Amino acid sequence: MLNRLLSSFSTDVGIDLGTANSLVYLKGNGIIINESSTVAINNKTGQVLAVGESAKRIVGRTPMHISAIRPIVNGVIADFDITQEMLRYFLNKTKEFARKRMVFYPRVVIGVPSNLTEVERKAVEDAALQAGAARAYLVDEPIAAALGARFPIEDPTAHFIVDIGGGTTEIAVISMSGIVASRSLKIAGDRFNEEIIKFFRDELRLLIGEPTAEEIKIAVGSAYPLDQKLEVRVRGRDLSTGLPKEVVAADAQIRSAIAHPLSIITDSIKEIIEKTPPELVGDIMYRGIYLCGGGSLLKNIDRLIEEESRVKTSIIDDPMTAVVRGTGVISEDLDKFRDLLFVSRKKQLLL
Ligand SMILES: Nc1ncnc2c1ncn2[C@@H]1O[C@H](COP(=O)(O)OP(=O)(O)OP(=O)(O)O)[C@@H](O)[C@H]1O
Ligand SMILES: [Mg+2]
Repeated sequence: MLNRLLSSFSTDVGIDLGTANSLVYLKGNGIIINESSTVAINNKTGQVLAVGESAKRIVGRTPMHISAIRPIVNGVIADFDITQEMLRYFLNKTKEFARKRMVFYPRVVIGVPSNLTEVERKAVEDAALQAGAARAYLVDEPIAAALGARFPIEDPTAHFIVDIGGGTTEIAVISMSGIVASRSLKIAGDRFNEEIIKFFRDELRLLIGEPTAEEIKIAVGSAYPLDQKLEVRVRGRDLSTGLPKEVVAADAQIRSAIAHPLSIITDSIKEIIEKTPPELVGDIMYRGIYLCGGGSLLKNIDRLIEEESRVKTSIIDDPMTAVVRGTGVISEDLDKFRDLLFVSRKKQLLL
């Protein structure tokens, strides 16, 4: 009865709480928030100064008493209180968008990495409930990504999803709405940035920050040789003189800098293919591998994976929104998808 009453008041929302980016889908409206998962905090007072894009802009440029924090690390909540603040900010924005003046009891569907422990899952639920959600339901991100891509996941056929995010790479084979084989790696797009910083420091004796490393990766980074050579001018601090210096870097240099983490990803994809039941391997050969997440935008990463796995590899349309669109598909019809959802609190029964 209470649930029925609540559902008539409630607004259903889908959330992709990512290491790098958080997105919110509002039932009946589509994606309404797409922001960096960054929170700026005043260390002296503990006050939240900015959340999202405005907090990301100050990374690496803050005075001593302000820190820009990413509360989710490798898909897991690393700082509970700040995650809660970030969720509260997103839910408030959603409330404004939904023009709910008084009552706002959102039921939220949140995508989480498939290998989270029970404790880690509870932390996500608790953060959402304490940030103002009436109900929190969790869904495995590869399942959400497949739903976002509109794959018929309930069919007895295999869907191979690789979500290369900022902090985690999720590799999963889905059949009949469940995960048949999966692997979650703590290696993804942000590791490429770290390798680029190391390369500049060790090989070119130039100190650069993470935002610059990310720009370089996006501008000239690639996983497999390109048809056209690319170059980028990079400014940083010369490690020998301590003074500013500009160097030019080529795509081949960046490719070799990130080759190692990429090989871990391709090796894990091959391992999952080996672990997949033979009947489903046939389906994978036929349907191919589908990539999503921001890391899938790295130039020619589909070609590298195709070459290594010998399976046709494609990128899901609009790969960075696949997971949130999937949580949105669920939020449009919570009843229909209840079997896909993880709920630990008994009182949170779906109606
Ligand atoms: N054009 C691009 N080329 C290469 N990498 C990119 C590009 N655009 C974004 N990225 C990278 O994608 C990553 C972010 O992807 P995404 O938003 O899917 O991650 P996330 O969902 O926040 O993280 P996770 O799923 O690991 O929790 C960052 O490392 C970013 O640098
Ligand atoms: Mg993600």
